[in-house]
Amino acid sequence: MNQKFILAFILLFTLSVTNATQFYLCRPEEPLPVPNVTIDPDPLTVNTDTVFHVSGTLGSDLYGISIILEDANTQQIDYASYDFFDNPYKAGSPFNFGLNYKIEKNLPSSYTIAVYFFDSEAAEIGCAATFIGF
Ligand SMILES: *[C@@H]1O[C@H](CO)[C@@H](O)[C@H](O)[C@H]1NC(C)=O
Repeated sequence: MNQKFILAFILLFTLSVTNATQFYLCRPEEPLPVPNVTIDPDPLTVNTDTVFHVSGTLGSDLYGISIILEDANTQQIDYASYDFFDNPYKAGSPFNFGLNYKIEKNLPSSYTIAVYFFDSEAAEIGCAATFIGF
């Protein structure tokens, strides 16, 4: 293959990967599993119906999820919670579903989105966070 073509392809691929919002470990000092999270549309946009796609496998039954947005001073901007008490996702089996979300407040230039995964005791069993504008 033509080398310029390969370079262009790699560049496009890198751009398409880095443009997506990536979620990471929430707290390195207290590492919890990092379920896979993607948002659609991406990036998060105010007053727009958004779906948080979450997937993965956790070591405990999954009973609830919270989405928390905080500003650069860790002040809460928004909070949404979802519970699956009637139908928990079983430990060790893969889950894959979407959470409907809408941010109806203006977002500062820097903020974090954290997605917390809870067991039946409301203990955190997984967490994924992304850091926007830092
Ligand atoms: C996220 O997805 C990757 C690739 O499919 C998988 O290896 C990983 O275990 C997933 N994370 C969790 C916590 O399940």
